[in-house]
Amino acid sequence: MMNYSEIPREFKKVKVAASLLSANMLEIGSDVMKLKDAGVDLLHLDVMDGHFVPNLTFGPDFARRLYEVGIPLDVHLMVSNPECMLDQFCDYAEYVTIHAEATPHVHRLLRRIREKGCKSGVALNPSTSPNFLQYVLDETDLILIMTVNPGLGGQSFIPSMLHKIKEIRDLIDQAGLPIEIQVDGGITGDNAHEVIKKGADILVSGNYIFSSDDMAAAVYSLRGTSLKEC
Ligand code: DX5
Ligand code: ZN
Repeated sequence: MMNYSEIPREFKKVKVAASLLSANMLEIGSDVMKLKDAGVDLLHLDVMDGHFVPNLTFGPDFARRLYEVGIPLDVHLMVSNPECMLDQFCDYAEYVTIHAEATPHVHRLLRRIREKGCKSGVALNPSTSPNFLQYVLDETDLILIMTVNPGLGGQSFIPSMLHKIKEIRDLIDQAGLPIEIQVDGGITGDNAHEVIKKGADILVSGNYIFSSDDMAAAVYSLRGTSLKEC
């Protein structure tokens, strides 16, 4: 019998985080219940401020309502100076992720997220180098790799990001730290397996899940081969 650490990454169960950015806002309540039935692991909440990215989305009151649903919340802050609103989201989230490009105080804020009892995430835009991560690894529980430019759902995956996922996987493994890799942008049933093989632990998916007639089947197809089938 193999022990879990010997099982190839592509056969391990990945988490699926459904991005609510692609939901129909007039039907969001029933869509969230459908996601719960479909067995998503996390609700991914894309918070945008119209400044760091050219779009506006959700605030902390909405996060509080989602918290009551009982699916762990994964907050992706695409906002300039996230220190201004961090604490409010920490009250309701399991993961809170800030962008490396959005503040000069990444190290301090990752610490702050942990102090508030959440898992700390740092996100990198497609053009941001993994070198950035070197001095914040000890404060990080999750690295979010953007595989589209942030701001909109439904964009196409940028193929050169596959190499970046592998590079960051190697960095984490060499450091021997239990940091999860989240991949966000353009994830579908067609590219999920490749992304998992390169090192992803959590897949964010919006358009692919919400445009499907069967959310449960879409979530299943993203997970790839489950541990059971090994
Ligand atoms: C993009 C957001 C993503 C997006 C993913 O700025 O961070 O979370 O909603 O959606 P899809 O899967 O449609 O690319
Ligand atoms: Zn996101």
